[in-house]
Amino acid sequence: MEKINPLEALRWSVEMGADEAIGDVAVNRYAESAARAAKRQAERAQPTPTSRTAPAPERMPLAPSQGAADSRAAASAANTLDELRDALAAFEGCALKQTATNLVFSDGNPEADIMILGEAPGAEEDRRGVPFVGASGKLMDQMLAAIGLDRSAAYISNIIFWRPPGNRNPTTAEVAACMPFVQRHIALVRPRILVFVGGASAKAMLDRKEGIMRLRGKWYDYHSPDLGSPIPALATFHPAYLLRSPGQKRAAWRDLLMLKARLNELS
Ligand code: URA
Repeated sequence: MEKINPLEALRWSVEMGADEAIGDVAVNRYAESAARAAKRQAERAQPTPTSRTAPAPERMPLAPSQGAADSRAAASAANTLDELRDALAAFEGCALKQTATNLVFSDGNPEADIMILGEAPGAEEDRRGVPFVGASGKLMDQMLAAIGLDRSAAYISNIIFWRPPGNRNPTTAEVAACMPFVQRHIALVRPRILVFVGGASAKAMLDRKEGIMRLRGKWYDYHSPDLGSPIPALATFHPAYLLRSPGQKRAAWRDLLMLKARLNELS
């Protein structure tokens, strides 16, 4: 049998997206499967039971509509940002919570005129429980600085509150589970301007099918049942995309100038 180089195996795991330790003790899956095989063999040797009734599952899985109703109820009961964070910490309707290290709720100033919504936390955000503190967060800080802002002049969050394993894209169900909390988050902060960074955020929040190439650089009215009047919202590129495609920074700069001009109109 070929010998496994542990360093190569680790590198391969990280490339496959398994880049987080989710338990303190390593689990020997080989020993587990040998034990399972022995158990199966022992079970086969037993006479077949006459009753075919399956034992009741410990917990019935929630129907999707039930899950959505639960998250809507939990979110709308929150009347402050602290209550909303507590409601999310107690919420069990999004499976991402099971693999994440921390809930990533928000950063910045909830009194600011601008609220920025990204997609989902990455590895560094998951470790620290703060949004946009990794490489794309550094670029976001530079983008804000380019129009004279910093985190005391913006409130920052995401449309997903837990890191998807290996930074995969969030599923439609995960976005739907978090959406009532995001809508409540916006209603509690009531910013004067919203900025949706990246396609996932812009599409989900504006309920549009087009990609970010089409959505960016335009103003929209963001509506939600919780808001009396709509909030002006701008869609722009995600800083992680700009790190991969620096040629798009010119377009992102135009978006930032639009944002700055709108902010100037407010003051
Ligand atoms: N990307 C996001 O969309 N959000 C974060 O918090 C970090 C990276």
